[in-house]
Amino acid sequence: MKENRTVTLDLKNGQPPIELPVMSGTLGTPVIDVRALAQHGYFTFDPGFTATASCASSITYIDGEAGLLYHRGYPIEQLAYESDFMEVSYLLLYGELPTAQQKVDFEQAITHHGMLHDQVVTVFRGFRRDAHPMAVMIGVTGALSSFYPDAHDVFDPRSREISAHRLIAKVPSIAAWAYKYNIGEPFIYPQNRMAYAENFLHMLHATPCEPYEVKPVLARALDRIFILHADHEQNASTSTVRLAGSSGATPFACVAAGMASLWGPLHGGANEAVLKMLEEIDDVKNIPAVIQRAKDKADRFRLMGFGHRIYKNFDPRAKVMRETCHEVLDALDLMDDPQFKIAMELERIALQDDYFIAKKLYPNVDFYSGIVLRALGIPSSMFTVLFALARTAGWVAQWNEMLTDPAHRIGRPRQQYTGPTRRDYVPMTKRGA
Ligand code: SDX
Repeated sequence: MKENRTVTLDLKNGQPPIELPVMSGTLGTPVIDVRALAQHGYFTFDPGFTATASCASSITYIDGEAGLLYHRGYPIEQLAYESDFMEVSYLLLYGELPTAQQKVDFEQAITHHGMLHDQVVTVFRGFRRDAHPMAVMIGVTGALSSFYPDAHDVFDPRSREISAHRLIAKVPSIAAWAYKYNIGEPFIYPQNRMAYAENFLHMLHATPCEPYEVKPVLARALDRIFILHADHEQNASTSTVRLAGSSGATPFACVAAGMASLWGPLHGGANEAVLKMLEEIDDVKNIPAVIQRAKDKADRFRLMGFGHRIYKNFDPRAKVMRETCHEVLDALDLMDDPQFKIAMELERIALQDDYFIAKKLYPNVDFYSGIVLRALGIPSSMFTVLFALARTAGWVAQWNEMLTDPAHRIGRPRQQYTGPTRRDYVPMTKRGA
């Protein structure tokens, strides 16, 4: 980042004003470097990090006002329609689109890391059959840190590259097996002849009893959905992965921590919550009451799939997801899907409502993803699992970038203390009843 000017801060503490550097990146909001504040006895205060840049990154750029999302400079709309998830994963990790040979080599590396250690089957068996697949995903991914001791050498670039490949390659198997374990069907192994999304759908739906053919239109739609979920700057789960990784923890444990953060309904759990909300609405005539609830401050209810910390315009991913929704439902002759019709009507009404207009609440990536995933035969319990599967590519790219940063330090935020001032211990005999 280039430093181009300073701001003067007069703390009105009898000391001379201090000069804080203002730095600009290649795009986006300039930052004020406040690191010197601590020496002057002050911290910044920004719970929720609404105005805090936690790092410098060259992976993803978001412009919330204009509704832009770039991965290494490439607009998400172009990547979604012209690239594929393996190529986008390579781009996130290495910074450039691959040559034809680099893409072949990368796909070979990912393909040949797809199989899980046979002992991992036992890890699955430790869960209740009705465990939420996200609980299984988190548990098994964290457990993989015990299978790859070499992954602990996070400051070795080649060790990091192998761990990144292993995580991108194995999350589809973990995800599909979490579902198979849930429904009591045998695990299906990855097929090296299959492409990434096709392989996942095969592991999810095939059984040992008969051949299972994945429809290309469904595999293509799922691959595009993976692209749309691959990375998104310093969101809650990515920040979790970075903070966990800043201590030098093994990447499997860091990604498991990111999965835990993503699971929340305000974050990656929203897609599952959207479908539940659409099912509860049940009929378009119930939409006005739901909109009213969403506007009621006394009611914790939120319109799932709407709003975003950064996008104060349409989430560009939601636009692509909406078009993909049309394509998939049309291809499967499901345009009369009741949830889809409710979603379209809910979007239409919300976008005209003064509350949503005033608060700049637009559909986000989760609003349509649930409908498409359900049309692809994915059960709603697996929606966040798929989000985690795709976001693993972004998490490992961000984790790797952090560890290659020469200014890397362990993350250690401070606080504003609001508890009791010093007081002496009171023996039990002198305490009130
Ligand atoms: C993802 O960060 C990322 O990049 C995340 C993500 C990624 O790819 O990693 O994009 C993925 O998490 C998408 C978001 C999925 N979550 C949901 O759809 C859940 C519903 N949305 C909200 O809970 C909310 O919009 C958040 C959590 C997404 C954003 O919350 P913020 O930025 O903290 O905003 P806020 O909660 O302070 O809301 C601002 C105002 C509030 O009203 P006031 O207190 O100012 O009066 O808008 C209101 C909120 O009440 N509001 C909503 C609303 N979202 C915000 N009111 C009704 N329905 C909603 N959905």
